[in-house]
Amino acid sequence: MVLVTGGSAGIGRATVHRLAAQGMRVVTCARDGARLQEAVGSLPGVLGVVADVADPTDRTMLLDRVRGERGRLDAVVLNAGAGWAGLLEDMPGDVVEGIVALNLTGVIELTRLALPDLLRAAEERGRADLVAVSSVAAWTQLPPLTVYSATKAGVHGFVKGLRREVTARGVRVHTVNPFFVSTEWLARGHGHPPTSDADARGRLSPGIAPGRVADQIAGCLAASRSRTVAVPRWAGLARLGAVPPVDRVLDRVLSGQAGRVREFASRQVRKRTGAAGGSDHPNR
Ligand SMILES: NC(=O)c1ccc[n+]([C@@H]2O[C@H](COP(=O)([O-])OP(=O)(O)OC[C@H]3O[C@@H](n4cnc5c(N)ncnc54)[C@H](OP(=O)(O)O)[C@@H]3O)[C@@H](O)[C@H]2O)c1
Repeated sequence: MVLVTGGSAGIGRATVHRLAAQGMRVVTCARDGARLQEAVGSLPGVLGVVADVADPTDRTMLLDRVRGERGRLDAVVLNAGAGWAGLLEDMPGDVVEGIVALNLTGVIELTRLALPDLLRAAEERGRADLVAVSSVAAWTQLPPLTVYSATKAGVHGFVKGLRREVTARGVRVHTVNPFFVSTEWLARGHGHPPTSDADARGRLSPGIAPGRVADQIAGCLAASRSRTVAVPRWAGLARLGAVPPVDRVLDRVLSGQAGRVREFASRQVRKRTGAAGGSDHPNR
């Protein structure tokens, strides 16, 4: 059985559909139950649970549901995540805390809670898998996604450390790092989540199809060792952002562009939400 967080839209939904088509049993979650039902309610072998993975009580409840209803947990896909486009000085403090709670604390804590099950599965069948849906922002941190990038860089560090704890015991730890994907993330992150696919039309961010990321996630679950994947593959060039001379050039160029970055972010947010950009509240 596979647990996929955030299965009602975007990459998570594409992943649930992909895994269900392969005949896997899946438990997935989201906060909006109606949307979750619309997305996965008709899929055989898929259970949707209303849960907020940024909330400690809900994380425990989610894993209890997994154990109670589906038996052995073979893999976890840590997909649910949120972003917010704008300069740090324009971000409300509770928005920062919400993004860290979901993208970083939520990922680490859900992993901690699931780890005994994954280690048991690895012992019983020789493998178990954890896939973190990270971002190219884990490698190159760019405004207006500074806080988002920081959480994904945190996920990157977490995955590297965890690999060294569990690989020899049969748990593979993967990261899938997409460039821009055509999903609802910007609208949702700024507090205007679409209520249906029809509502999302015209408000999706530009990018590659979520199914391309789902294919790579499914590939990780069949891989013979832990993988770090960029989607598309050329987006792996973002790793160069951490090389000191490139890093210094980015510092120099971008630090003079704060006004333009703010304007750009504001325009993008307005397009996806219809609201004034830069100061909206995420996560509803
Ligand atoms: N889209 C991109 O360009 C892009 C690029 C790189 C990486 N990523 C990463 O890919 C992952 C998925 O993003 P996406 O673009 O598919 O986003 P999306 O279209 O906004 O979908 C997010 C999904 O996660 C759920 N979710 C959000 N907050 C949650 C919470 N607190 N608890 C439980 N479920 C929650 C949402 O449902 P509810 O709102 O109903 O809870 C929805 O099902 C994220 O980690 C994101 O950082 C995205």
